[in-house]
Amino acid sequence: MSDGVAVETEGLVKVFGGNRAVDGVDLRVPAGTVYGLLGPNGAGKTTAVKMLATLLRPDEGRARVFGHDVVAEADTVRGRVSLTGQYASVDEDLTGTENLVLLARLLGHGRPAARDRSAQLLDAFGLAEAADRQVKHYSGGMRRRIDIAASILNTPDLLFLDEPTTGLDPRSRNQVWDIVRAVVDQGTTVLLTTQYLDEADQLASRIAVIDHGRVIAEGTKGELKASVGSGSVHVRLRDPEQRPEAGRVLTTALNAEVQFDPDPVALTATVNGHGTDLGAAEQAARALAELARAGITVDNFALGQPSLDEVFLALTDRKGPAA
Ligand SMILES: Nc1ncnc2c1ncn2[C@@H]1O[C@H](COP(=O)(O)OP(=O)(O)O)[C@@H](O)[C@H]1O
Ligand SMILES: [Mg+2]
Repeated sequence: MSDGVAVETEGLVKVFGGNRAVDGVDLRVPAGTVYGLLGPNGAGKTTAVKMLATLLRPDEGRARVFGHDVVAEADTVRGRVSLTGQYASVDEDLTGTENLVLLARLLGHGRPAARDRSAQLLDAFGLAEAADRQVKHYSGGMRRRIDIAASILNTPDLLFLDEPTTGLDPRSRNQVWDIVRAVVDQGTTVLLTTQYLDEADQLASRIAVIDHGRVIAEGTKGELKASVGSGSVHVRLRDPEQRPEAGRVLTTALNAEVQFDPDPVALTATVNGHGTDLGAAEQAARALAELARAGITVDNFALGQPSLDEVFLALTDRKGPAA
């Protein structure tokens, strides 16, 4: 590891014809985390990932993976990364086991070790029952899982997951998310591209929002949300006499302005995320606990949570994908 940084880029550029697909990207991905590269179709996500994975040569700028330059030390970088794309390397006509054993053999494992590792991954990814079925008969979710399994036969230090759940149903998405979490728990850094704001929200510690080849925002989820707007907490009390005290409690708990609505039992406070990394829901839950501690009876409590969709729309000023 180089100072706990998995990926570092400076002014990374890739031009196709006259199209600056990646147009001066600076990134810093901490090791051991999931980092989200979030952007719409055509934003430049795959192009950026391909440069980091040494599959495309940058036209300008530089990129280092664990301190190694992706051009000058491409072989070293290749030895430490793995890429799962939308179009992965498994063979449709082979079974799950045959695919993984073949790939493990190509990676230099002996036959028994290849069989062991394959069985272990198929089991861990919920594919044991499908192990002897041809991959062409797999569902979309199973297919995505075997792609990821194939890419971690040798545990990579850095795994690129390029839109791992695009087109999957909600249940399959959740299965893939669990796998991503398990991979990170094993110590692998994951660079995830996605067009789904909730996916970045679920998995990523930090997110770079990319559009037209440029990073237009970067930070933790909390920072991104706080940078463009805020959610609001709506509280209805049982006793209007408790409202001034409830206002004081919420002001302190949320570090925010409280509005007293025309309705004498109602208050509204913004959740601005200032000085905290907590999600709006967590902040709101804390505020609710503070009200209870102060002996204030709450009849109704609602949170208008800012979504990453709102963040994205505000940042890009246009419609995101139908997520
Ligand atoms: N091999 C290529 N040749 C020409 N243009 C490309 C190529 N690959 C990508 N592009 C263009 O570069 C831009 C970024 O594409 P891409 O990196 O695939 O975006 P994303 O992965 O975010 O959807 C798009 O305008 C796309 O059409
Ligand atoms: Mg892409």
